[in-house]
Amino acid sequence: MSMVEVLKVTNLKMWYFLEDGSKVRAVDGVTFTVFRGKTLGIVGESGSGKSSLAMTLIRILPLNAKIVEGSIEIATDKGFVDIVKLNESELRSKIRWKYISVIPQGAMNALNPFMKIGDQIVEAILLHENISKKEALERAKNILKYVGIDPSRLDSYPHELSGGQRQRAVIAMALATYPRVIVADEPTTALDVITQAQVIKLLKELQKKFNFGLIFITHDLSLIAQIADYVAVMYAGKIVEYGPLEKLFKEPLHPYTRALLEAIPRLYGEKRRLRGIPGTPPDLRSPPPGCRFHPRCPYADDICKKEEPQLKSVGDGRLVACHLVG
Ligand SMILES: Nc1ncnc2c1ncn2[C@@H]1O[C@H](COP(=O)(O)OP(=O)(O)O)[C@@H](O)[C@H]1O
Ligand code: SF4
Ligand SMILES: [Mg+2]
Repeated sequence: MSMVEVLKVTNLKMWYFLEDGSKVRAVDGVTFTVFRGKTLGIVGESGSGKSSLAMTLIRILPLNAKIVEGSIEIATDKGFVDIVKLNESELRSKIRWKYISVIPQGAMNALNPFMKIGDQIVEAILLHENISKKEALERAKNILKYVGIDPSRLDSYPHELSGGQRQRAVIAMALATYPRVIVADEPTTALDVITQAQVIKLLKELQKKFNFGLIFITHDLSLIAQIADYVAVMYAGKIVEYGPLEKLFKEPLHPYTRALLEAIPRLYGEKRRLRGIPGTPPDLRSPPPGCRFHPRCPYADDICKKEEPQLKSVGDGRLVACHLVG
């Protein structure tokens, strides 16, 4: 089966500009591809720029944020379109939600508490598609069924739903325009483990049915293991390792990926003592020179402090940014 590209992100940089003149380099040269019907898992500690990346992809950003370089090409009926180059009205009317939608971090808690679930889904559809209210309502009913919520719930308010149901409703909203790419930012983080597993199962079922490319963002590698086909490990605004799930888990190459994997309980094999990664991610206003991981890396050498390692191919569809590898 050939792999169909639905999103191509190239050397993307999005920085926040602060009043004191400093910049937060939250997304700093990110490149990846998303394929139809496949899931790219993006994993990294809190503060590594994951949510900034998610919101950059649909360009819903605060005023002090700016895309300073790179492209975000989305597959449309008329070929690839670079989201970076569009103006806001083109983006709103032609691309956002229609081709790519985002489930922002914390979305289930950001539902409007005074508005019925059904009305919120209908509003999301009508904002982005030129169909009648009646059609939108019909669509909302169907979508709710797909996500496993009884259509009678259209008339419920968010507080009348459980956490798991609210998350399903938020997924329904992202799906309601049948986009080619869905970006889900920590969609299960607020849920208990069992509900988490149900939401992941649901996302997989929906992907089989609708064939969207999924970007699943999390700080939790054990969730990545359950859902991703490909994995990108993000550290301090950059991707430090990329590869097919099994290979990356079996033989992590970047010291940061290894440390992340050592920090989660093992599913198979001998039990290991759990340990976190010593130190904290850097301040992105003044990231360390050379390899941004060097202050925390047990293998750091002189070159690591001076020269920035580039993400390069090491075969097997894998990419690594480390002076020690390849
Ligand atoms: N509006 C903003 N202005 C300035 N800095 C921001 C803003 N939003 C996020 N940041 C900073 O960007 C960096 C990345 O944050 P974020 O994208 O939320 O990371 P993650 O989702 O991986 O936890 C952090 O240092 C955060 O403080
Ligand atoms: S480049 Fe150096 S500091 Fe960075 S991860 Fe590799 S060994 Fe560690
Ligand atoms: Mg986040």
